[in-house]
Amino acid sequence: MKTTDATDRGGDVRLSGISKTYGSFTAVHPLDLTVPQGSFFALLGASGCGKTTTLRMIAGLEEPSTGTVHLGEQDVTALPPYKRPVNTVFQSYALFPHLDIFENVAFGLRRRGIKSVKKQVEEMLDLVQLGEQARKKPHQLSGGQQQRVAVARALINHPKVLLLDEPLGALDLKLRRQMQLELKRIQTEVGITFVHVTHDQEEAMTMADTVAVMNGGRVEQLGAPADLYENPQTTFVANFLGTSNLIEAEVDARSGDDIVVKAAGDKLILPGGRSSAPATTGGKVLVGVRPEKIGLAHADEAGSIPEGRNRIAGKIVNTSFIGVSTQYVVDCAACPEFEVYVQNIDRDPRLVPGADVVLHWNPAHTFGLDAAQDIDAGVAEEEAA
Ligand SMILES: Nc1ncnc2c1ncn2[C@@H]1O[C@H](COP(=O)(O)OP(=O)(O)OP(=O)(O)O)[C@@H](O)[C@H]1O
Ligand SMILES: [Mg+2]
Repeated sequence: MKTTDATDRGGDVRLSGISKTYGSFTAVHPLDLTVPQGSFFALLGASGCGKTTTLRMIAGLEEPSTGTVHLGEQDVTALPPYKRPVNTVFQSYALFPHLDIFENVAFGLRRRGIKSVKKQVEEMLDLVQLGEQARKKPHQLSGGQQQRVAVARALINHPKVLLLDEPLGALDLKLRRQMQLELKRIQTEVGITFVHVTHDQEEAMTMADTVAVMNGGRVEQLGAPADLYENPQTTFVANFLGTSNLIEAEVDARSGDDIVVKAAGDKLILPGGRSSAPATTGGKVLVGVRPEKIGLAHADEAGSIPEGRNRIAGKIVNTSFIGVSTQYVVDCAACPEFEVYVQNIDRDPRLVPGADVVLHWNPAHTFGLDAAQDIDAGVAEEEAA
């Protein structure tokens, strides 16, 4: 079921220079952002970074201090919320407790004076797989089911854009995961633009076509999940999205397209095309590599590591077995807490705390960042979330 006309491109959400200040505090700095019609778009960031404020400006619930909001060709900046083709689902989905599920979903239609609601409501309930629960009251449903009712109640108004502000925040982890897939399925099925606010990076990456990573009222980087993960442009994005090992290094030389860097005596190769930092010889650069890209060899096996791989020696300080993988923390001269995730296939019993090891990885998996940034940006935020 498509509730939008695929040929109608009038649904892009375009924010031009919108900002929000409260007194002398800037919650959102002037922001330019286009959310293509029909996409699943996530605003991701730590608490207080301006996600809800941005969403509320799209909904019309918050007046921008500067800038405009367009929906397709239409400038909706001055329109009140109820005149915008936009609906919002909040974390507290606030269903009407005295109405059954059917009537909760029918509410928007009845308010508009539509009499024959049965077919549309049933379609919506099928979409969110609650056809069987139509005559129950909200308190008789699980958190995830109630959340789906809230989505159905918003979608029945055929908005061009559905705004979701931490809609899964109240659910436990397992249900959250289920609902992430469910929401994604619903979005694909109806084809409506979803703008989803979350502070959970895994949630954003699972669901969204495009993720905008926000930090301190600004979008730091915007892209497809895999692109953000593999090619972070700032230390904040590198640390906030998953885990990155960041090493302080010095540019030693150029070798063709590669940059040769030195980190605590080790020479590492950084592909020139993967560095967002200037690579002047003698200059500083932060070299990054993701934990799952790294191989871990006991020091006795170092000779069997293929040529051409980046390698660093260290000592295991901690291991945690988490089923699909084992996570190691390795103390290296260049990086005291190097994280390595190894899939559990053939576990080398010698890889225990205290063991001398060599970390090695394909140089192509190395990225470079500007060393003028805080190397720990985004780390504490993620732990606090
Ligand atoms: N009405 C207001 N008056 C003053 N400051 C406000 C107001 N609303 C929001 N702020 C501030 O603006 C900043 C951004 O708030 P916002 O609600 O957009 O954050 P958020 O990214 O949604 O955070 P969270 O993940 O905690 O919901 C915060 O520092 C907040 O304290
Ligand atoms: Mg918020």
